[in-house]
Amino acid sequence: MCGIFAYLNYRVPRTRKEIFDTLVKGLQRLEYRGYDSAGVGVDGPRKNDNGDNVNICLIKKRGKVKALDEELYKNDSIDLDIELDTHFGIAHTRWATHGEPNAVNCHPHRSDKNNEFVVIHNGIITNYKELRKYLKSKGYKFESETDTEVIPKLIKYVYDNSENDYVSFSTLVERVIQQLEGAFALVFKSIHFPGEAVATRRGSPLLIGVRSKYELSMEQIPIQYNSTGHFIEGIQQRNFRNRVDSTVALHSVSDRKAVEFFFASDASAIIEHTNKVIYLRDDDIAAVAQGKLSLHRMSRCAGEDPNRAIQTLQMELQQIMKGNFKAFMQKEIFEQPESVFNTMRGRICFETNTVVLGGLKDHLKEIRRCRRLILIGCGTSFHAGVATRQILEELTELPVMVELASDFLDRITPVFRDDVCFFISQSGETADTLMTLRYCQGRGALTVGITNTVGSSISRETDCGVHINAGPEIGVASTKAYTSQFVALTMFGLMMSEDRISLQKRRLEIINGLRMLPGLIKEVLTLDDQIKTIASELYQQRSLLVMGRGYNYATCMEGALKIKEITYMHSEGILAGELKHGPLALIDKHMPVIMIIMKDACYTKCHNALQQVTARQGRPIILCCQDDPEITKNAYKTIELPQTVDCLQGVLSVIPLQLMSFHLAVLRGYDVDCPRNLAKSVTVE
Ligand code: UD1
Ligand code: BG6
Repeated sequence: MCGIFAYLNYRVPRTRKEIFDTLVKGLQRLEYRGYDSAGVGVDGPRKNDNGDNVNICLIKKRGKVKALDEELYKNDSIDLDIELDTHFGIAHTRWATHGEPNAVNCHPHRSDKNNEFVVIHNGIITNYKELRKYLKSKGYKFESETDTEVIPKLIKYVYDNSENDYVSFSTLVERVIQQLEGAFALVFKSIHFPGEAVATRRGSPLLIGVRSKYELSMEQIPIQYNSTGHFIEGIQQRNFRNRVDSTVALHSVSDRKAVEFFFASDASAIIEHTNKVIYLRDDDIAAVAQGKLSLHRMSRCAGEDPNRAIQTLQMELQQIMKGNFKAFMQKEIFEQPESVFNTMRGRICFETNTVVLGGLKDHLKEIRRCRRLILIGCGTSFHAGVATRQILEELTELPVMVELASDFLDRITPVFRDDVCFFISQSGETADTLMTLRYCQGRGALTVGITNTVGSSISRETDCGVHINAGPEIGVASTKAYTSQFVALTMFGLMMSEDRISLQKRRLEIINGLRMLPGLIKEVLTLDDQIKTIASELYQQRSLLVMGRGYNYATCMEGALKIKEITYMHSEGILAGELKHGPLALIDKHMPVIMIIMKDACYTKCHNALQQVTARQGRPIILCCQDDPEITKNAYKTIELPQTVDCLQGVLSVIPLQLMSFHLAVLRGYDVDCPRNLAKSVTVE
């Protein structure tokens, strides 16, 4: 995920080298979030008559923060030893969503060649296409493929068209964010407002740290409310009202005392400098001018807190990076309400019940004409194919094959020009999947990527595809990528069936299910304590079977894989339909069995399997729907899940197994994020 860090020193002399070091250190603290490029924006050497710096220097680099750090020292025109009494520097790590990872797409983004306004951004601007079109019509030239670039262009447009010269920096930002849709945390810097900073957020986190050798006079900062109108002609009415800012000094005497401000998307980048922080809320605008911080909002809603507290963080760095979580895997499991939502963001319109995957819409005709769909992946990504095969068969009315990449190549599987091959991969770099992609391409099939990594080999080499936008996954055991792959593939099915009249009712049911999904995932996550208790009974076992069928077979395989990967227990996902053809021999009162029995078309058959297990003194732990007394009475233990549409139930049923594997691994004393013998991205065959 992208990371924001910015540093303002007011009357605290710092050499440019010290400023660079602070910015780079800030970015390094955010490295754990995952990124593919990094950049900084600082004052350049040119000054005006008042001695203010009047140019901004942007240095951006693809790759690691270390590479950026080296780049900073290559620029001969920058005097590193010069001391700056007051300065504002911004820095960013980017995880590509719009356009490839390269220096041009990297942040900070700028308004124009003179870098009048520069911006760093976390999040996604969903209406960027409209804004880009509008700004292009006004003569603005875009240089990157990003959604972010509309923001600096827009603020320059507002600045150039403002009613007088006294419009403050924060007012400009306020006017800009009125036009933005989507999610953002933003920090702005401008040559027109030297030594000033403006930051704001909506949907993405942002906090400000304050450090001063003088004691802070207040424990909270009052919000200033004001209402300005909307500004884009033709889109919304023109109704400017200039605002006179009244700022709040953080010291008892507002006599311009030395102070430093740190802006960051998470506390890990701030904590080593100060533990005094202010968390911004959605649509808060924070401005620093003359060393004073002020907070603004457009208008006050009833019941809203008119202050923001200056909080004292009592956390260790490591703790902040993982939040309150013990491991990245656990953090990622708990991120699923948001990651699944992000997969759907801007693609499903719940008002019109339409689904548009931008990356596939131009290829739909060709896909509809194909002979079969082949879903190819490894490990968890393969399971996402298994999980969605049935609904894809139903919605596309095409034969769907699901294949392990390595096996597909071993078999020299026949592939034809009228096949459509999907390559599912979180990293987009898995060697087996990539080789299979090249193999299928060589045989003329249309290749479609389902990837989480923009700019990855699979994303680049496929003819088209879908980025699942789950954000970077750090834990080796894949969790949130699986549920997002699941949702992305389901959305593909919905898009394919848009004009099938006979499928409309079913489509609506699924779209509605997707709408409710993030909320239901949250509900499932509340079962964590119960699952931990069950794990504490199971962790000394040597083996764990996971059984189910139909839509939930993939959950069994994926659950068993999670358990193997991080707990090193033997675990097997068993198709309940196969029970009597072998696995039943394993069942006795000592063998732990998890069964998945949901209220779907396989319910009765699963119930039969349950009886076969209990008849052999098996003591099943059952994942079932809420209010199912029939199941509860036959279970050793139950984990009750909310019910959703049958084809989406697997998104919910996999979560208790992710949590179970996590708790088992912790109880067994293993490193959850880095299991032995495994790598996050397997780039060798
Ligand atoms: C694009 C933006 C997205 C934004 C949306 C708004 C990019 C990378 N994505 O998303 O952030 O919210 O517009 O309209 O700019 N592709 C492959 N193989 C893959 C994955 C993708 O070839 O494995 C191709 C797609 O066919 C498409 C491009 O990459 O041409 C971007 O894909 P995706 O991000 O899924 O497209 P949108 O959802 O339109
Ligand atoms: C590796 C990982 O084996 O690759 C698995 O350990 C993962 O967790 C598999 O599922 C496939 O990776 P990707 O990036 O292609 O989805």
